[in-house]
Parts: sequence; C-alpha cells; structure tokens
Amino acid sequence: MNLALTYNVKKEIEEQIRSSAKDSKNSATQKYINKELVENYPERLDDTFAEWDSMETIDAVKNALELGGHEVTHIEADDNAYKKLKDLKPDFVFNVAEGFYGASRESQIPAMLEMLNIPFTGSDSITIGICHDKSRCKEILSYYKIPNSKFFISNIQFDTNNLEFPKFVKPLHEGSSKGIYNSSLANNLKELNNEIARIKECYNQPALIEDFVSGKEFTVAMLGNGENVKVLPVVEVNLDFVPDGFNKIYSYEVKWFFDTRENQLDIFTCPAKISEEIYRRIEEVCREAYKVLRIRDWARIDIRLDKNNIPNIIEINPLPGILPDPRDNSCYPKAARHAGMDYNAMIIAVLNEAVKRNSQDS
Ligand SMILES: Nc1ncnc2c1ncn2[C@@H]1O[C@H](COP(=O)(O)OP(=O)(O)OP(=O)(O)O)[C@@H](O)[C@H]1O
Ligand SMILES: [Mg+2]
Repeated sequence: MNLALTYNVKKEIEEQIRSSAKDSKNSATQKYINKELVENYPERLDDTFAEWDSMETIDAVKNALELGGHEVTHIEADDNAYKKLKDLKPDFVFNVAEGFYGASRESQIPAMLEMLNIPFTGSDSITIGICHDKSRCKEILSYYKIPNSKFFISNIQFDTNNLEFPKFVKPLHEGSSKGIYNSSLANNLKELNNEIARIKECYNQPALIEDFVSGKEFTVAMLGNGENVKVLPVVEVNLDFVPDGFNKIYSYEVKWFFDTRENQLDIFTCPAKISEEIYRRIEEVCREAYKVLRIRDWARIDIRLDKNNIPNIIEINPLPGILPDPRDNSCYPKAARHAGMDYNAMIIAVLNEAVKRNSQDS
C-alpha cells in the first residue's frame, strides 16, 4: 500500500533549550520542582515537547512499515499537513501525531483524515479527543461504572477546607507525565492550592483534582477490535524503584530524569507477578474501558489498585508511546515483545488490525 506516516517530531534538544530560555513557562516550572534536578539536568526541564516522538521513533515506524512491503511518505502534523494529505491521497495513514495547539490537538490529524475520507490507524477524532481530556474520559467511565477515582476540576484556589486528603493534581489535558511532578500529590489545602496555581501558570489550563489511588500500578497494552481485542501481557510499574524522598508516583521526574537510557531503572515487570484473580480483573476492566470509549486498533491503559485491590483506570492513551530501543523503557513495545512481537511485527500488527477493521466497516 501507499502509506503516509503522520507524526510530530521533537525539536533538537539545543533548539529546545534556546527556545525554553525565553520561555516563561520553563522558568515557572523551575519554581516548583526539586532544586537539585533543576541544577543537574537543565536540559530535561522543558516538557513542552514531551509528548512528541524523536526522529529515531519515526524512522523505526517507517522502517517497520517498509519492511512490511509498503511505501511510506512522512507527513509532519503541522499546518501544511492537510494539503499534503489531500495531494498525496495515500491508501492508508499510520497516525502517531500528538498535535500542538489546543486540548483536542490529538484529534486534528484524525479529523482531517475523516474529512478527506482517508482511512487511518487508531481511534477516531471523537475518541482521541475524549481520552485527551481526562475529565471527559472519566465521565464516560463513571457512567458505565468502570472504577476510576472521584474527581473535580478547578482553576481557582480554595479557601475552605472540607476536602479529604491526599489529592492528586494534574493538568486536565496533557500526556507523557507533562505537568505531573512530585508535588502533584497534595497532602493539605496549601499544597493543593499551590498545584492549582502551578498548573494554571505553567500549562494555562484547569487542574484535574482526583482522590489518590495508592496501590500497585500497571499499564496494559491493547491490540485489535471488537470481540478479538487482545490484552497483551500486563506490565507492572514498580514504584518501589522511585528514589527515596520522592513520592511513589510515575511522575515526570521518574520518567524523564531518573529512568534514562544511560541509567535505566528496573521499573517494569512483565508479565506482572500478581494473583490470577487480580490479573483477570485488570484485563476485564481494560476490555470494558476499551469498549465503552470505542477505542480502535490499539491503546495503552494505565491502572492503579485502590485499597480494596480494585483496578482503577488512571488514564487511557489511544496513541501509546512506542520508543523502539529496548533500553528506553517503553511499555507498549515491552508488552508486545512479551507477546512474541518484535518492534516491526508490532507496527505491522497495528496496521493490519486497522486495515481489517476498515474493510469490515466499509
Ligand atoms: N489519581 C491518581 N492516583 C494515584 N496516582 C496517580 C493518579 N493519577 C495519576 N497518578 C500517577 O501519575 C502518573 C502519571 O499520570 P497520568 O498517567 O495521568 O499522566 P500522563 O501524562 O497522561 O501519562 P502518560 O505518560 O502515560 O501519557 C501515573 O502513572 C500514576 O503514577
Ligand atoms: Mg499515564
């Protein structure tokens, strides 16, 4: 097939530093996070492009598609993308574009492709948009009684204390742990108000304020459609490896400062070593969430157990991260490897699921 690969590529790190020196958001972030990290890793501080892919990832996806016998054209998801897609008229698009502007930025390429009637991998613009707004996603889960923590959103601080603590505070619509720092776990009203101010100042959006789900954490890669959705081997995120002095959360500091290619934390166990009963419950809750949100082809679902060992959905990624180098801890490729698929086979499996679904739909 003639394929297009739609993506957003991370800027070169030097360019990031240059632009972030001028960026007030970056200096705002510095105010809030651990001083030692700010001093030791200034180049990792700017999370503006955290969700985007590196050229290494984009090349790896392209390579996998070409090895699968397809012709592949790169199309960067910028404001020229619509015209390029219209002119190229590919048979199919492999979409990993995260977008840049607005809460529904991940929906923009899917919406363009829907308008052009070009089939593509992954969820449609509605589902991707809903999952990217964590409160909208939680509203749907709650409607279907799929466990997730109680929440509200706010961009104003509180002056009365009728809230129970701890609370978990995160930006309403970000991914890759953008804006989720050690301070996101708020133990009192002052900490909560600080977080609401931080999220407003640094990310210009309301804070999602959730009950803290304190148990074990997992992430679950899903592949396929309808009755044939496969739950790939469940990955446990071993939060015991979070360095002392930091909260047991999979924060931006843990993902991007502590767990690096040079200094890999032994943070994942796949398949998770848990009782059959809990394993089965995790699979069940992921299948239900996938179904009610009408996710297509693939996704990665984050889970934490509550104090009664009930798996709660933390959030859903219909465009999961897919770093190709096993030294970079990336959960979807890791789960795929445990299911017997190397990187190339995994990419082709996603494409094949999408093609099959598309031929059944049309
Ligand atoms: N309500 C919660 N209770 C406990 N921990 C939470 C909660 N919400 C988030 N976390 C912690 O923060 C981490 C990041 O949160 P979340 O998955 O929502 O962010 P994200 O930026 O969308 O992540 P991703 O990198 O998967 O896109 C989780 O993996 C978990 O460790
Ligand atoms: Mg997550």
